[in-house]
Amino acid sequence: AKTVGILISGRGSNMMALVEAGIPVALVASDKPDAAGLGWARGRGIATFALSPKGIGKAAYEAQLDAALREAGCEVIALAGYMRLLSDAFVARWRDRIVNIHPSLLPKYKGLDTHARAITAGDAVAGCSVHIVTEELDGGALLGQAEVPVLAGDTPDTLAARVLAAEHRLYPQILKEFVTR
Ligand code: GAR
Repeated sequence: AKTVGILISGRGSNMMALVEAGIPVALVASDKPDAAGLGWARGRGIATFALSPKGIGKAAYEAQLDAALREAGCEVIALAGYMRLLSDAFVARWRDRIVNIHPSLLPKYKGLDTHARAITAGDAVAGCSVHIVTEELDGGALLGQAEVPVLAGDTPDTLAARVLAAEHRLYPQILKEFVTR
């Protein structure tokens, strides 16, 4: 299987699901040095890299991130709640080797606030998508999706929790296929 580097910005629950599923993870990296998921990864003996682009600029930040991923031997990058846009140059260097999980049934609701938008639209079904990362935000080829119902009385938080549980099942399954193909 190909070795994976996971990029997070916060809680890291999808990262934890990937590690616990036995995906070979060589590095967990974050643009937020205080991301909660970093401590969990360190506790598991996984190498971590934390650097904020603030102050040094996006190009310098991405150059160091790229170097850390390569030095760790990563062959695939999995975005897991990574809330920053990667530059076109970074995406090009890792062409077809970056995957993302997004909390909507793409192509619906690219970007932010997906759950509020699904509720406002009156959708009966919501879900999550795993896709290849391209220069177009949340626009690359789909690798897999999982659906959950939208229930009467759902708030963005209650729907997010139901979708997140589906994410934790979908992402390990799809990434396992991706790193072994
Ligand atoms: C997840 O729901 C993920 O799909 C979403 O952020 C959450 C991160 O949770 N990602 C995006 O919105 C990407 N634009 P986690 O840190 O616990 O995995």
